[in-house]
Amino acid sequence: MFSLLFFTYLKLRPNTIATRWTKETTSQQERSTAFEPKVVKPKTVTTEPRIIGTRLKLLAGLALMATIFQIILGGWVSSNYAAVVCTALPICEGEWGRYLDFKTAFTPVHFGFDNYEFGVLDYAARMTIHVSHRFGAIVVTLLVGVLGLSLLKHRQSALRKVGVLLLGLLVIQLVLGVSNVVFHLPLLVAVMHNLGAAMLLLSLIQTNYIIWNIRYPQAEKPTLIIIESKIPTGRLKASGDKESSL
Ligand code: HEM
Repeated sequence: MFSLLFFTYLKLRPNTIATRWTKETTSQQERSTAFEPKVVKPKTVTTEPRIIGTRLKLLAGLALMATIFQIILGGWVSSNYAAVVCTALPICEGEWGRYLDFKTAFTPVHFGFDNYEFGVLDYAARMTIHVSHRFGAIVVTLLVGVLGLSLLKHRQSALRKVGVLLLGLLVIQLVLGVSNVVFHLPLLVAVMHNLGAAMLLLSLIQTNYIIWNIRYPQAEKPTLIIIESKIPTGRLKASGDKESSL
């Protein structure tokens, strides 16, 4: 519900990044009509990010989907009282692989019970739910981790900031999840783990919003960048000009 409200807010508010870029583009267009070459020092020339465009968009989309799925799994762990069936790290104790029972674990309704207080599933089904949440955490960690690290290398500072935010929230959420297991579900930790999931989800929605709305106006426009050098330059001319002294 809150995610939907937040997403609607993001959709409706003015796009500050796009506005800023549009302004920059306009001033660049004005400058390009006057043909004013831009002199930059070699060390200030930006490099392309490792992952750009479609790959980054897909990664952000997948990370969001995986996190939504992981939150659903977390709710399933909690509502089936499966939090304390696995007390070992990283996955579960004993020969857990032999007792997996996905069919019972993920049957949405079990008839024949007056109420579901303290859960109605047997050990194998609860253990399967808990183990699924642990594997879900591994998938989320990989996707959000790679996404966050890729964003850290991006040339847009807005994306670098969300990269830091995503990685920070991911680490906090993992620490809270592991604390749930190690300290046998203290109430405060369980509540914070819920809050952490909400924050991670909101940040991923924001990240996707920024990434899917990003424009590279400069990439489509011819720009003249002159690297400052010690070689004496004469009169500057446009590229393609055979008499150019560069
Ligand atoms: C990395 C991303 C993770 C997300 C987004 C996530 C999300 C959630 C959510 C939304 C819940 C439901 C909380 C509730 O209904 O009260 C939950 C429950 C739980 N999670 Fe996670 N989790 C993550 C990682 C982990 C990890 C790594 C562990 C343990 C190693 C873990 C252990 C648990 C446990 C034990 C519960 C049950 C808590 C309860 O019964 O109140 N989680 N998780």
